[in-house]
Amino acid sequence: MNERQPYIRVENLKKNFGHIEALKGASLEAYPGEILAIVGDNGAGKSTLIKALSGAITPDGGVISIDGQSFAHLTPKLAEEKGITTVYQDLALVNTQTVWENIFLGHEYRRWGWLNKKKMRRETAELLERLQVSIPDQESVVADLSGGQRQALAVARAIRQGGKMIILDEPTAAMGLKETAAVQKLIRHLADQGYGVIIISHNIPQVFELSDRICVIRQGKVLAVLDTKSVTADDIVCMIVGGSASNGAKQ
Ligand SMILES: Nc1ncnc2c1ncn2[C@@H]1O[C@H](COP(=O)(O)OP(=O)(O)OP(=O)(O)O)[C@@H](O)[C@H]1O
Ligand SMILES: [Mg+2]
Repeated sequence: MNERQPYIRVENLKKNFGHIEALKGASLEAYPGEILAIVGDNGAGKSTLIKALSGAITPDGGVISIDGQSFAHLTPKLAEEKGITTVYQDLALVNTQTVWENIFLGHEYRRWGWLNKKKMRRETAELLERLQVSIPDQESVVADLSGGQRQALAVARAIRQGGKMIILDEPTAAMGLKETAAVQKLIRHLADQGYGVIIISHNIPQVFELSDRICVIRQGKVLAVLDTKSVTADDIVCMIVGGSASNGAKQ
């Protein structure tokens, strides 16, 4: 077994929106069991990159390989089949439905045509326990959950649907300290269980606390991919803003 086989390999990815070059030949690798943080200024191309990975946009050039298979035209269905799941910020949960109903949304178990609620409740309990997600009552409706619990629920659903590489876009934006800590714990736990995690974050302390490697994107290019332990927050901020961290940052 070669543990250092990348699950995702992106080579020379390009994407234009009209005259805007959102990605100018980005290359990147992501591994199972690893937390990869993607950082970069507003408009750097982070979301465009992850949208290409989930098949939501078609790149103008380059190749995406997943688990050794290359795709020039990755569709959302193919990406999902290959275990790439993106949890976007709106989370796509149904507020009026319960925890277990959301876990099985669109993939319900049926028995003789009837919903097999017992099985879905049991599997939800097992899944939440395995992921160490703390939601005391799975009969709660999503509207009554905290932000952190919602994020955890969206991640649990992604795992249930076969996710192997979980991509999170700003998962703790607008969360308090306690909630953020719970979501970070879940992300770490996922990586420890062998899932790959890609997290987009503007929160540099969080990036340093969580990630194994940091990918800095600037103006559509991957400027560097670094071992988190080998760099300082100042180094990263310098790379993001493209100058000295102390006097290069704009207001
Ligand atoms: N659908 C689109 N149509 C036109 N331009 C777009 C589109 N999507 C992205 N862009 C442009 O492409 C560039 C990269 O955008 P992207 O959303 O990838 O940035 P980002 O790094 O995610 O930024 P942020 O941190 O603000 O979310 C920006 O200049 C943006 O305006
Ligand atoms: Mg974005």
